[in-house]
Amino acid sequence: MALSLTVNGEQQSLDVEGDTPLLWVLRDELGLKGTKFGCGAGLCGACTVHLNGEPVRSCSTSVEAAVGGEITTIEGLAEDGQLHPLQEAWIAHGVPQCGYCQSGQIMSAAHLLATNPAPVRDDIVAAMTGNLCRCGTYSRIIAAVESVAG
Ligand code: FES
Repeated sequence: MALSLTVNGEQQSLDVEGDTPLLWVLRDELGLKGTKFGCGAGLCGACTVHLNGEPVRSCSTSVEAAVGGEITTIEGLAEDGQLHPLQEAWIAHGVPQCGYCQSGQIMSAAHLLATNPAPVRDDIVAAMTGNLCRCGTYSRIIAAVESVAG
């Protein structure tokens, strides 16, 4: 079935089954490997992308559900050749350890700042609670988000 998607501002026409998880369409059909497979059950947040500005678990979102919407992945977060301020902060704070969960972490943090530009620590902790990190980089994640928060 041919489906039309908008991913990182580009229109894509894909011949995939509608119930295919968005994660696999992004990774396998479009080559956007920054979005990761962690648990595959909507529990860990590694696969977080934005759909119409809202964070969604792409492992648990059918591609059909994203038709007509605007999808943003970690590859689309930088604009005009400039890293997103959170990406700069991630580098400055040396946040990643193994790095596997970090694109999902950044996508959740980007949604927080888009909806609340001046979050306090409790807001950050609450917003990030659904993104797991097996390396335990949580304190650096919070520090990085705080450094960007107005
Ligand atoms: Fe989607 Fe874990 S891989 S929530």
